[in-house]
Amino acid sequence: MAKSKTLYACTECGGQAPKWQGQCPHCGAWNTLVETVATPAPARFESVAGTRSSVTPLAAVKTRASSRIATGLEEFDRVLGGGLVAGGVILLGGDPGIGKSTLLLQAGAALGAAHRTLYVTGEESAEQIALRAQRLALVNAPIELLAEVQLEAIVAAINATSPEIVVIDSVQTVYTEALTSAPGSVAQVRECAAQLTRLAKQRGIVVLFVGHVTKEGAIAGPRVLEHIVDTVLYFEGDPHSSLRLVRAIKNRFGAANELGVFAMTERGLRGVSNPSALFLSQHAEGVAGSAVVATLEGSRPLLVEVQALVDPVQGGMPRRLAVGLDAQRLALLLAVLHRHGGVETGGYDVFVNAVGGVRILEPAADLAVLMAVCSSLRNKPLPRKTLVFGEVGLAGEVRPVQRGQERIREAAKLGFERFVIPNLNKPKQPVDKTELIGVDRVDEALALLRD
Ligand code: TYD
Ligand code: MG
Repeated sequence: MAKSKTLYACTECGGQAPKWQGQCPHCGAWNTLVETVATPAPARFESVAGTRSSVTPLAAVKTRASSRIATGLEEFDRVLGGGLVAGGVILLGGDPGIGKSTLLLQAGAALGAAHRTLYVTGEESAEQIALRAQRLALVNAPIELLAEVQLEAIVAAINATSPEIVVIDSVQTVYTEALTSAPGSVAQVRECAAQLTRLAKQRGIVVLFVGHVTKEGAIAGPRVLEHIVDTVLYFEGDPHSSLRLVRAIKNRFGAANELGVFAMTERGLRGVSNPSALFLSQHAEGVAGSAVVATLEGSRPLLVEVQALVDPVQGGMPRRLAVGLDAQRLALLLAVLHRHGGVETGGYDVFVNAVGGVRILEPAADLAVLMAVCSSLRNKPLPRKTLVFGEVGLAGEVRPVQRGQERIREAAKLGFERFVIPNLNKPKQPVDKTELIGVDRVDEALALLRD
């Protein structure tokens, strides 16, 4: 390898500068220059196969059947799109203490028997990992440990032992001698991840990176790696409850937005294969400010209770707070509520929350949010066993959502009897023992909350 010297590259435009400066001399962006290695380009950035590529017709490209390696943890396989793929690089992000190391140790232990697995730990000592394995009753798991943080040593160990699966816990602790910046800096994280990704592609190894999310999410966090890796998984969930959700944000080998549901127990993470009723709180009778929505997270419908509290402003500006829902979307929905529903919330604080620490990303929850807000404002509960879904448009219309039938079926299975849904999602045939109320406009739905 040619003797490397350091250089600075822009994370925005890729332009280079010989020394650090606040502004990129090429694109003018501020604070985007990070240290990088100045080895001759072909050595660092050669194509995936390591050879020169030529132009080929698409039809002539030979594909390898990418057989899936099932991890044995059903919910983990689900988010991965059926299992690991040889040469696939996965980033598992999440807050500290949420369960990343636990999940990968369990997966590694299950995989180890059939596929040589190397667990590189930079964050904890081998002894700490062994203690965790004891707790998980996995002491005899066929998995190899390496307590190392230097990239060159890790690469040498991978070359020497040829594992099929490598876990890097965490990518923020790994550093390369080629750069002078501190471990965990953007430069180090990017360079180390890029080197290991190239190794994965060349040798067909599965690499799983653990990445911590920093408060800002951007600085040296997993965000800088999202475009390098094939699959990005994020742990979500309320740290105070035992529920843990793993969501696929990006997946080159499967559906994005797929969700795996786990419960953290005394003996590690256990998959929850039927989670649809987990996010409902158990009210004995209907309460004001609560509406249940059927969201489709990945391939399964989940029933989630949306709660709202609307309270007169106690001096100052009215506050809007959304937990588990998009705050911008809430502001938009309140404007629609005012203009098309005639309901004024300007003098009130509005708080909304999705129960159970789940995050609802799809607009199908719009109508449920509006109904929960209105129900709290009027202090009038929705009838019990009522399910609401539908996207709300700026003109006050209620738009249909995808796979409405599936949502209705799942809710009916769990005993829901009344459905407030977009007219266009109304099934042609009546569903047993249910009342289907199709609405076209927001005010029609809100009329159900009038005395
Ligand atoms: P860990 O996997 O170390 O989190 P991360 O790698 O994301 O930082 O998990 C830490 C938490 O999980 C810790 O608070 C203890 C809890 N835990 C259990 O409840 N049961 C278990 O069996 C294990 C191993 C951990
Ligand atoms: Mg950890």
